[in-house]
Amino acid sequence: MTESSQESKPDMEEIVSLCKRRGFIFQSSEIYGGMAGAWDYGPLGVELKNNIKRAWWKSVVQGRDDMVGMDASILMHPQVWVASGHVATFADPMVDCRSCQARFRADEIEGDVCPNCGAKGQLTEPRMFNLLFKTFAGPVENEASTVYLRPETAQGMFVNFANVLAATRRKLPFGMAQIGKSFRNEVTPRHFIFRTREFEQMEIEYFVRPQEAERWHQYWMEERLSWYVDLGIRPENLRLFAHAKEDLAHYAAACSDVEYQFPMGWMELEGIANRTDFDLRQHSEASGVNLTFFDEEAGEHITPYIIEPSAGVDRPLLAFIVDAYRQEEVRGEKRVLLRLHPSLAPVKATVLPLSRNERLVPKAREVWALLRPHFMTQYDDAQSIGRRYRRQDEIGTPYCVTVDFDTLEDEAVTIRERDSMDQVRVPIGGLVAALREKLPPC
Ligand code: GAP
Repeated sequence: MTESSQESKPDMEEIVSLCKRRGFIFQSSEIYGGMAGAWDYGPLGVELKNNIKRAWWKSVVQGRDDMVGMDASILMHPQVWVASGHVATFADPMVDCRSCQARFRADEIEGDVCPNCGAKGQLTEPRMFNLLFKTFAGPVENEASTVYLRPETAQGMFVNFANVLAATRRKLPFGMAQIGKSFRNEVTPRHFIFRTREFEQMEIEYFVRPQEAERWHQYWMEERLSWYVDLGIRPENLRLFAHAKEDLAHYAAACSDVEYQFPMGWMELEGIANRTDFDLRQHSEASGVNLTFFDEEAGEHITPYIIEPSAGVDRPLLAFIVDAYRQEEVRGEKRVLLRLHPSLAPVKATVLPLSRNERLVPKAREVWALLRPHFMTQYDDAQSIGRRYRRQDEIGTPYCVTVDFDTLEDEAVTIRERDSMDQVRVPIGGLVAALREKLPPC
């Protein structure tokens, strides 16, 4: 029934406004004026985020025979960050404007004009600014008690390499996967949840024989690109971008990013790096613990190379929302639609009584109770049925279940599909099975 659909990219303001209005994402500490670089996920945002993490875990841990999961602590021994190179080199070049005191990452500046106040020739020379967040463990605040909030989850897997190997008796190639919070004192957090100071990562460390590293690097690039496409992102909005040697992080021999075409341009969702044997060697040397692997095939101890597909959670979440966003005209009225993949949609089905009629409401609540143990659901009886459909379209709910006066006679309900708006009538007794058939396992 769609009359026209606007395929052009929404601007970021539309997305930020929808996210706030419908309870996906709020500014952190908003009532105090907000906290730069930090965002809070509301009732729908937390569902979407959990669904993304679940889809990733299913794809890279549950569905494979060569991966195991991990959940390391955020606080680690400070020597970890010395050995990893982060204390010495995890820094961005930063420039200040002498005129308005604004601060920028040097790579965001073109020429010598301040992007904030327009002053010319007032920018300082770039200075390196370390991105590690520091805090203190225990009651004494001094150098000896200084610890860092992890800037990547990866190191928690490297330092547990020997533990995991001993516990699982894996052979090469095998990988570890972890989801968790990371923290970076970004000079200029920006673009909503794109660059923040607190964010989540979904990281894989895949251990391989050195001579097979390039092949596995290629493999993981293809694998990870497909993951986004399988979850509904349009392929023309995704690309792989290979970093030039001189732009690589201190630990990487090669790195390609999965990039998404955001309203503000092509930007990174995930980095897929060949970290070589850098990390295991560094930690072996610094800790004195042997982090090699006895390769039965080669008959010798080797230090595996690591292929690291490292994704954020927040950036992909933003990409999933932007890509799903549509504005359509239906019978002369505007409808905003999130065409989220059903496995990502925060709410799978919403029960709607045709009206607040005293006979319909108890029946509709009965149907809602029937669905709750099986799916994430909502119930909505406020305003007209048309408006309620629009509200559900706007949050990406794939199915609405309508209870009408016929339901009282025939014990059947109508299922309305989000994208086509097609409707089918099903008996209440078969409703759970009908929705199960339509939805991916959840
Ligand atoms: N262990 C490798 C590593 O951390 P990275 O490219 O610095 O690599 C990986 O980070 C992913 O983490 C990025 O592709 C991005 O999705 C996410 N990420 C990094 N910094 C971020 C930030 N300040 N805000 C939001 N997400 C961030």
